[in-house]
Amino acid sequence: MSTEYHGLAPLGNADLSHRRPLPLRMFHFGAPYYPEHWSEAERRNDAELMADAGFTMVRMAEFAWDVLEPQEGSFDFALFDEVIAELATEGIRTMLCTPTATPPRWLTMAHPEIHREDARGVQLQHGARQHCCHSHPVFREYSRRITQAMADHYRENRHVIAWQTDNEFNCHFSECHCPACQAGFQDFLQRKFRGNIQRLNQTWGTAFWAQTYTDFAQIPTPKPDRPCYDNPAHRLDYYRFVRESVAVFQHDQVQILRAANPRWFVTHNGCFRHIDYRGLFGQDLDALSYDVYPFFDQDPAHRPYSQAFNLDRVRALTGNFMIPEHQSGGGGQGGYLHDTPEPGELRRMTYTSIARGADSVLYFRWRTCRFGAEEYWRGILDHDNVPRRRYEEVAQIGMEMKRIGPAIRGTHVHIDIGIAVGDIDVEEAHDILSLGLPSPRRVAEAIHEELNRAGYAVGCVHPADDLTGVAMYIIPHWASFDPAWVPDLQEFVEQGGTLVIGARTGSKDMDNNVISGTAPGCLSELAGVSVVEYGRQNNPEKRPLHLTDGANFANTDLWYEVLSLDTAEMFATWNSRHLTGQTAVSRRRLGKGTVYYVGTFLDGHICTLLCERIEAEAKVGPLWPDAPEEVEAVLRTDGTRRVWFLTNRGDAPVVMPRTPEGVSLTDDEDVGGGPVTLERHGVLIVQEK
Ligand code: GAL
Repeated sequence: MSTEYHGLAPLGNADLSHRRPLPLRMFHFGAPYYPEHWSEAERRNDAELMADAGFTMVRMAEFAWDVLEPQEGSFDFALFDEVIAELATEGIRTMLCTPTATPPRWLTMAHPEIHREDARGVQLQHGARQHCCHSHPVFREYSRRITQAMADHYRENRHVIAWQTDNEFNCHFSECHCPACQAGFQDFLQRKFRGNIQRLNQTWGTAFWAQTYTDFAQIPTPKPDRPCYDNPAHRLDYYRFVRESVAVFQHDQVQILRAANPRWFVTHNGCFRHIDYRGLFGQDLDALSYDVYPFFDQDPAHRPYSQAFNLDRVRALTGNFMIPEHQSGGGGQGGYLHDTPEPGELRRMTYTSIARGADSVLYFRWRTCRFGAEEYWRGILDHDNVPRRRYEEVAQIGMEMKRIGPAIRGTHVHIDIGIAVGDIDVEEAHDILSLGLPSPRRVAEAIHEELNRAGYAVGCVHPADDLTGVAMYIIPHWASFDPAWVPDLQEFVEQGGTLVIGARTGSKDMDNNVISGTAPGCLSELAGVSVVEYGRQNNPEKRPLHLTDGANFANTDLWYEVLSLDTAEMFATWNSRHLTGQTAVSRRRLGKGTVYYVGTFLDGHICTLLCERIEAEAKVGPLWPDAPEEVEAVLRTDGTRRVWFLTNRGDAPVVMPRTPEGVSLTDDEDVGGGPVTLERHGVLIVQEK
């Protein structure tokens, strides 16, 4: 569903798909670089050291507004001109950023009204970053000016090939309730409801708790918990307004950059709250980028799984992506400091990222800063500027990428099982009124982890995306469901796909209201069932419920539904308490495919049981059946070329009894298909012959 009402035409790629390769001519390798943090002497050998590590690109200037425009209207590009030229002598290209995440002090002094305001009415202050409001006309004006000045200055510079807008929009703070946002929100609602306040009242259900409005000017931004639960449709529309504000703020910049030089690759590093990456925001870009910090997961055994899910989740948004910031050392801020990657771990993580869709990688950051809020955010080089093992490891990968980069260019990640992920309306509608249930994204992550562990080629796909090649598609509890997605899903099933629908799906509309009909609403006909009773399980150990398909049992601990069968048949039943004998899971054969409706929350265990049970008919199975659980096997292909990424995600050496036959791309050796030992953090990348 489109959440943009501004009528702006996207300036990038509207053709978003998880199968889309990154539209860049080559695989870029490098790091974000902050010349403004270092003296000339400290920077002296940087370009050469970078070139020795195989760098082809650096990213610069995202926090350097104070250097680029030290006083209002007076611009100074000398530092960046010099560094860009120096890097170019070593063959390293530059990606510049609009520096709007850190508006300078002269600006916030002159215009204190542009500071964001939180839901308690407290104005954010200067001194960190992301303190200014995207919908404020004055901030937008200054953002356009600095973008225009940079675009004009660099339009002819052939060493500048790409741009990142801002930096991680909404990463720390996303809501704003300042006076400009109050007016902006009312304007947004006027446009959405075409000036008809009655339509708004109906859509939001304002009859509840006497919220009826008679004029758009009466409507405030929603303030959660003040004093208690607010209207879920009101809040969802407010989030849509926040999404539109940031998309329009970025659109200003993209328009200027594209007009200056249409050959520039324009991207942004996501993914954060209240941004519709599949909407105007993402469609304005050539592709989305994603910053990869796996060490936020403190459990080293779990880390490869959370990393894999996050990569797949991002690929579901606009396709293959660039990584402008890839963790290269233990990161520390405020009250935490991550583990330091062990020898080989950085390389293993990098290849997990590339296997799952990264088409360019820059490591955060070149050298660890000695001051500021991130003085312990460790980069490739330590504080003392001595290249040590992290530099050597990056340099090894840099050399390997000279072979691997061209081999994977134009390929996508092969998946057999897709999990529905990536709809901002669905996710935010849940967050607003969750009933204490896990979010669709958390459930997707749990399913992804189990199927990934079991060796299936699992990924994430939005229901409006292309399901070509996908054998099984799982929709975990998308309570809000857009009827527009149903025809393609029906076609998917008729053509032989297996569709698995989790409980609550289709029970709400896209405005966060409950539907008037019987769940699963717009999916009832396709699934062939109706939900006649549902309930939350609050103390599952006191009143345990389990279901059985005759052979397997599974306990449920969150939710139950009782299904009435229309065109579907019973596949599994409840066999406890008052539910005994009632349908828990249904199956409907349709065309060449099958639809399962599961009347409880899907978890990894239930999905694995289901996959094992229906593996043969659903035509899914482990991707490389000879891979032990410790080995992650991922295939990138364009239909002709096939490149396998096999990484040891365990904590000890592991033997692969059989490997794909071809050439190992890390050392150009033939791999005969026989047994191979992967060391701890070991990697084998094979291009089939
Ligand atoms: C990212 C951000 C960087 C830096 C890094 C380490 O989220 O884009 O600027 O802050 O995290 O904290």
